[in-house]
Amino acid sequence: MVRRLFRENQPASSDRILYPGAGTGPFAAAVERVCDAEGWEYPDGYAVETDPEHVEEARVRDLSHVDFYRQNYLDDDMLDAGWFEYIIGNPPYVPIEGLSEEEKKRYKSAFRTAVGRFDLYLLFFERSLELLSPGGVLSFVTPEKFEYVDTAEPLRRLLTAEDTHVKEIEHIDEDAFTGLVTFPCITTVQRTDTVEARETRVTLRDGTTHVAILPDDGSSWASNIRDANIEEMQTGATLEDVTERISPGVATGADDVFTMNREDVPDGIEDTWIRPTASGSQLREFDGPYTDSVFVCPYRDDGTLADVDALGRFAEWLEEHRNRLEGRSCVDKGKTWYAWHENPPMQDLLQPKIVFRDIAKEPKFWPENSGDVVPKHSVYYTVPKDSVPMDALLNYLNSPEAKMWMEAHCQKAHNGYYRLQSQVLRELPVPKEWADSFQATL
Ligand SMILES: C[S@@+](CC[C@H](N)C(=O)[O-])C[C@H]1O[C@@H](n2cnc3c(N)ncnc32)[C@H](O)[C@@H]1O
Repeated sequence: MVRRLFRENQPASSDRILYPGAGTGPFAAAVERVCDAEGWEYPDGYAVETDPEHVEEARVRDLSHVDFYRQNYLDDDMLDAGWFEYIIGNPPYVPIEGLSEEEKKRYKSAFRTAVGRFDLYLLFFERSLELLSPGGVLSFVTPEKFEYVDTAEPLRRLLTAEDTHVKEIEHIDEDAFTGLVTFPCITTVQRTDTVEARETRVTLRDGTTHVAILPDDGSSWASNIRDANIEEMQTGATLEDVTERISPGVATGADDVFTMNREDVPDGIEDTWIRPTASGSQLREFDGPYTDSVFVCPYRDDGTLADVDALGRFAEWLEEHRNRLEGRSCVDKGKTWYAWHENPPMQDLLQPKIVFRDIAKEPKFWPENSGDVVPKHSVYYTVPKDSVPMDALLNYLNSPEAKMWMEAHCQKAHNGYYRLQSQVLRELPVPKEWADSFQATL
């Protein structure tokens, strides 16, 4: 990043460089290393960090070109620091939930980018654009989401304003930040005074590069940036074509009766009637579909409802809940008193499948390889067709391309969460090789 920052503009001691959210000073140290290696003068450094321990640690590193200040980069007094020829950093990725009410209010009134469910790195971009001198260059590593999410519309406008040029965007490996589920990118921006060709050099994770012209009206950059990938995605095949079904889990109409912890299953109920289950919140809590919850389930493996005589001790136990079960609307409409609201499609449910939450902050998909979990209604599941490799489909659904498509197409709930409805997911384009094997199957 440092080399990229200086690529076309070598630093001089009269230049100023800013390190927002400087941490313990890794970028400042890299600047000294690069300048030493190239025989360049050090620019004059100004580092800003709120964490006192980081500031302390950075100061003892004795980086001669830079002063470390304990300061909030988003406070107004930052604007008194003057202009900078270079700005480089890894801004904090703090979603709105991590902020106090007071901070949210303050930021909303001070930043154009603080709209909806904003994230601090958007504000770091805006503040940096305010501090970048004419001709100055900025390089940030951030999540790539600002390229296409609705919340980043104001930032996209700022980045494509007349005097601002996004020179380069490089998508870097997902594991560049251990432990963080984020698709990172490095963005290089220059403040220009000439209205030149607005070309952005884009490097994707597969190493391919192309030149994009980004729209300047705040609309998503997705198709401009992912040009190649998206074209490749137009195979004519969709998720619906390569899966047996995409459905919500079962609705019993009385989960309070039919679900419990495994250890609470009454003695004497045979294992045949016990099915592991998971709810949407458990998928997140257990990071997958394997939990300690079960359904006591009166349906056989073929999906038929067992006769009460066949249920043994389970029938006695159901009898204890008869009033509650008879009170359900499905019984009014003619269902057997211990039947579920909907007949569970057991033959599809009892297969290796992919499970996901119906409403999620970010789309995420888990494997259910054992094929015995019967998901609750708040979990969706999809069963790949025989010709489609489960692992590959799972990787694809969790890929940045698929995620981008979902974030662009799925409805949003009031809290900004995505609704991963089956009718939308059915339309998700899938890669060419499955389209081909799908055609071959046809
Ligand atoms: C993702 S870390 C990056 C640290 C460092 N630049 C690096 O690359 O290792 C973001 C840093 O920003 C700091 N930070 C968070 N909010 C800040 C704010 N409002 N003003 C200044 N620094 C902030 C955090 O304490 C943290 O050290």
